[in-house]
Amino acid sequence: MHPDTPHTRPQRIAQDTYLVPRLVPAGELGFVPVNSMVITGREPVIVDTGAPLHREQWLADVFGLVAPEDVKWIFVSHDDTDHVGNLREVLERCPSATLLADFQTWQRLSVDFDMPLHRMRWLNPGESLDAGDRTLHVVLPPLFDSPATRGLVDGTSGVMWAADAFAAPAPGPVHEARDFPPGMFDASFVPFNSTANPWHGWLDPVAYGRHLDALRQLPVEVVASCHGPVLRGELLDHAYAMTRAMAGAPVVPAPGQPLLDAILAAALGPAAATAR
Ligand SMILES: [Fe+2]
Ligand SMILES: [Fe+2]
Repeated sequence: MHPDTPHTRPQRIAQDTYLVPRLVPAGELGFVPVNSMVITGREPVIVDTGAPLHREQWLADVFGLVAPEDVKWIFVSHDDTDHVGNLREVLERCPSATLLADFQTWQRLSVDFDMPLHRMRWLNPGESLDAGDRTLHVVLPPLFDSPATRGLVDGTSGVMWAADAFAAPAPGPVHEARDFPPGMFDASFVPFNSTANPWHGWLDPVAYGRHLDALRQLPVEVVASCHGPVLRGELLDHAYAMTRAMAGAPVVPAPGQPLLDAILAAALGPAAATAR
């Protein structure tokens, strides 16, 4: 763990629902969140499994909220490392849990390890799961960076897990968008989401608008995601509006060699960048 990384603790964001936040330093931008979520209902659900970098603390946080033997469901939104980074450990420690995934996640992860097909259930967008005291609805998030990606809407708490959508760096251990310094969320929103989802430049605004309209009609009051702050009320409306405006808009170029040079210079001194 980077020595400048603030300690973070699970945050209750709705009834029976906890954000498990982790941060990764991002220089002058602040910190990139790498969050996951736990639903502590009658049939507890782990929603994404964090990154390998944070394994020890992540496991302690999650199993401080729910005992491993009580976990009934493990939902992985997609196959990226920051979402399945502790999946093997969770499968080992939670013998009663069923893995909620899909064909694409299985295909893409099967080159990493032998996935337990007999412990899996595949769910596609539009399908639902009865999790005891709640129904979980699988959705296609507003933005995504893997074809496997699915989000989750909890019909009881009104929380949506938006996977990689609505990303924005945090100023520190601040997990609600309403607590960000003024302007910070807006300033970084388009660059962050554009570089991670460069396909937005090809989108027809009307067709894409229909996708967002369908999501907005769901009974969602709180949105949590892996790489952004918790969104509610007007800030959630605003995040949707900024996302909607990205359809067909110019793509923000990803940082290139100058950023790598700057990172190396900051870490090793100016000679490191020029010596290569
Ligand atoms: Fe991703
Ligand atoms: Fe991610």
